[in-house]
Amino acid sequence: MQAFKNPVGLVNMAEKRDLVSIADLTAAENRLIIQRAREMKSDSSPRPLAGKSVALLFEKPSLRTRVSFDVAIHELGGHPIYLGPEEVGLGTRETAYDVAKVLSGYVDCIIARVYSHDQLQELAAYASVPVINALSDREHPCQIMADMVTIQEHKGGLEGLKLSFIGDGNNVARSLCLGLPALGASFTIATPRKYERYDLDEESLNLSRQRVKQEEFDSVDVVAVEDPVEAVHQADVVYTDTWISMGEESEAETRRRHFLGYTVNPALMAKANPGALFMHDMPVHYGEEVEEGMLDHPQSVAYDQAHNRLHAQKAILEFLLAGN
Ligand code: NVA
Repeated sequence: MQAFKNPVGLVNMAEKRDLVSIADLTAAENRLIIQRAREMKSDSSPRPLAGKSVALLFEKPSLRTRVSFDVAIHELGGHPIYLGPEEVGLGTRETAYDVAKVLSGYVDCIIARVYSHDQLQELAAYASVPVINALSDREHPCQIMADMVTIQEHKGGLEGLKLSFIGDGNNVARSLCLGLPALGASFTIATPRKYERYDLDEESLNLSRQRVKQEEFDSVDVVAVEDPVEAVHQADVVYTDTWISMGEESEAETRRRHFLGYTVNPALMAKANPGALFMHDMPVHYGEEVEEGMLDHPQSVAYDQAHNRLHAQKAILEFLLAGN
């Protein structure tokens, strides 16, 4: 198979590419996908998925990811096939190895939302078609691509900004940490550090710092703190996610107790830079990680984030599939 030049101007090798982690993309690729997402937002004519089918393999519930991918695939000329939690039984009814091998013979791409990131890595390792992470316990790269588009639209760029994440050092926080600093934005996370389990792991913090170094940014920091007020000092973006992720429902009471004091509200926003954006990947647990009404706060861009999922994912699909 010949190398091809895809519409975002990068030469993809014949080897298939996956998007399992946001760090699977170089900073240059990441920038070009953001640019392409913005172009595709105003030009709905490209149909690089014409004649292609895409499996949407979901182990967990979904509103934004499922609908935006379904619409994106349809608008790009492709055929989406949704496989819900009852249908496949990834790792129980069928091994990830077999699912990867079988689906590769039917579809051109596998989009998977899984409980365990290991299952996703296994799918990617054995599928001969691109695998896209639609949320795992470790990462949420498609969300972060949409977030980058949203920040770019509202702030004109990412370089030189500071994003502060308040809450659980989970999948969303990890993808933000791995993605944004490589594009020139500082990242601070505030977690209740006495309970170490909510910390973002050192490995991710260090990988992010390594990517900053590679991109030769001198003044980009990647920092973990305890105090939300300290975290939002000089922040241009304040971001939060649920304290109780899908699959952690049995820990709800404990988590609510441990995260007391980490609610994002107008008072905390007032401690960030004037005009700082408020962001949330949704779904929202009002009265927990945010106060009621926070998504309609004048500085909130949470609904724009949700809408940009469509455009960011179109650009991701085009990048991974066009020419294949
Ligand atoms: N951290 C959340 C993200 C939901 C999109 C979860 O894993 O449930």
